[in-house]
Amino acid sequence: MSDLSAFSLDGKRIAVTGANTGIGQGIAAAIARAGGTVIGIGRSAMDETARLVEAEGASFLSAKADIADSGAAVSLLNELMAFAPLDGLVNNAGIIRRADAIDFTEDDWDDVMDVNLRSMFFLCQAYGRKCIEMKRPGRIVNIASLLSFQGGIRVASYTASKHGVLGITRLLANEWAASGINVNAIAPGYIETNNTEALRNDPGRSKAILERIPAGRWGVSDDIGDAAVFLLARASNYMHGVILPVDGGWLAR
Ligand SMILES: NC(=O)c1ccc[n+]([C@@H]2O[C@H](COP(=O)([O-])OP(=O)(O)OC[C@H]3O[C@@H](n4cnc5c(N)ncnc54)[C@H](OP(=O)(O)O)[C@@H]3O)[C@@H](O)[C@H]2O)c1
Repeated sequence: MSDLSAFSLDGKRIAVTGANTGIGQGIAAAIARAGGTVIGIGRSAMDETARLVEAEGASFLSAKADIADSGAAVSLLNELMAFAPLDGLVNNAGIIRRADAIDFTEDDWDDVMDVNLRSMFFLCQAYGRKCIEMKRPGRIVNIASLLSFQGGIRVASYTASKHGVLGITRLLANEWAASGINVNAIAPGYIETNNTEALRNDPGRSKAILERIPAGRWGVSDDIGDAAVFLLARASNYMHGVILPVDGGWLAR
């Protein structure tokens, strides 16, 4: 008989930012399948995710915050930690803006950096600080991107922010591994969510992307959810500072 307990999240409380849709929703559902309780942090209603999580027999709690406001997001995280410590934090919320580099506006720069990098870092800081204060182990999974490794096109602030997610994930792993906090990231490939709707609606780009993916299909949110469970569970105890591509082979090509 196989022992899957190393992949179990039984009794664990995991917060996921942006859990109402897309990859965040896939991660929430996967945590629930692994036996964990999900705390969804975001600005939109999370009823659909609550239903998915509860259908797995797990508990769901939703906590409201606009993650563009790092101060508000951090206050909420501190309240959650004071209520009952979190065993893990998944920084998934993210946005993208598309424009040619020569036309890129400061607003499109700032808006993306605020959500994807600034709040991501200060949520990690607040979570890590509490874990260290309480002498508790912790798990952080950040959602990076193929554009943590590649340049992309027409997405200047997104590429900058996701390169930043890679660097910060490694930096925090270096500082906190000895305190029992695992900090890792997932770099999703092309996943069918709102984030990639514009690409999928562009027949030229959509065909070119699909032809380049060795697996021959776009990814789905569950592909990322299952990898997140691995990075939140005992199975990855000795992993620190890894940026794990889940990309159908894109980066291998
Ligand atoms: N899809 C892909 O191919 C792909 C590839 C690589 C990396 N990623 C990354 O994966 C993560 C999830 O993206 P996705 O593809 O699932 O996109 P999505 O469907 O657009 O979901 C983005 C999530 O972030 C939340 N969010 C954005 N701004 C927020 C704010 N100010 N406050 C609170 N929540 C906010 C959204 O909430 P609302 O619904 O309220 O806006 C939503 O829950 C992002 O970090 C993205 O960069 C995606």
